[in-house]
Amino acid sequence: MAVMDIITLPDPILRKQSLPVERIDDDLRRLIDDMLETMYKAPGIGLAGIQVGVDRRLFVMDVSREENNPICMINPEIITRSEELNVHEEGCLSIPDYYAEVERPKIVTMKFLDRFGKEQQMELDEVGATCAQHEFDHLNGALFIDYLSKLRRDRVIKKFAKLAKQKEKNIL
Ligand code: NI
Repeated sequence: MAVMDIITLPDPILRKQSLPVERIDDDLRRLIDDMLETMYKAPGIGLAGIQVGVDRRLFVMDVSREENNPICMINPEIITRSEELNVHEEGCLSIPDYYAEVERPKIVTMKFLDRFGKEQQMELDEVGATCAQHEFDHLNGALFIDYLSKLRRDRVIKKFAKLAKQKEKNIL
């Protein structure tokens, strides 16, 4: 297994629409294991393919405190969303050290393929539901800061653009 580089704001790759996974084979399972290792090492509770430069519709997550419940969703769909909403503070490995409260449906049912290509359905609640929806958004090029006011969003993007520029200068 290997730890991968995580792409951060304002890299335009993060805004790309991911494409369906067409083949579930050993190469993909290796990628999934690498993504899980990268997520645990960060540490984070979710990581989408696009965040490591793979524009395919898959993500990994683990919201257990013991980090012993890895879930991988391939070609996921949200098939039900509760009317009841919930507010959770969210962060993102692609937007390091920034957190904000986001309101989303409290319960969702996801349909997806597991790492062996078997179709699965899973109901998620609370932080699990928030995490799955956040990761699902990544597959469509959406970020949690898109739920904030334009003013707040622009401020975050500007901050990260400045940081990226500084980093570039230091490398050159
Ligand atoms: Ni994220």
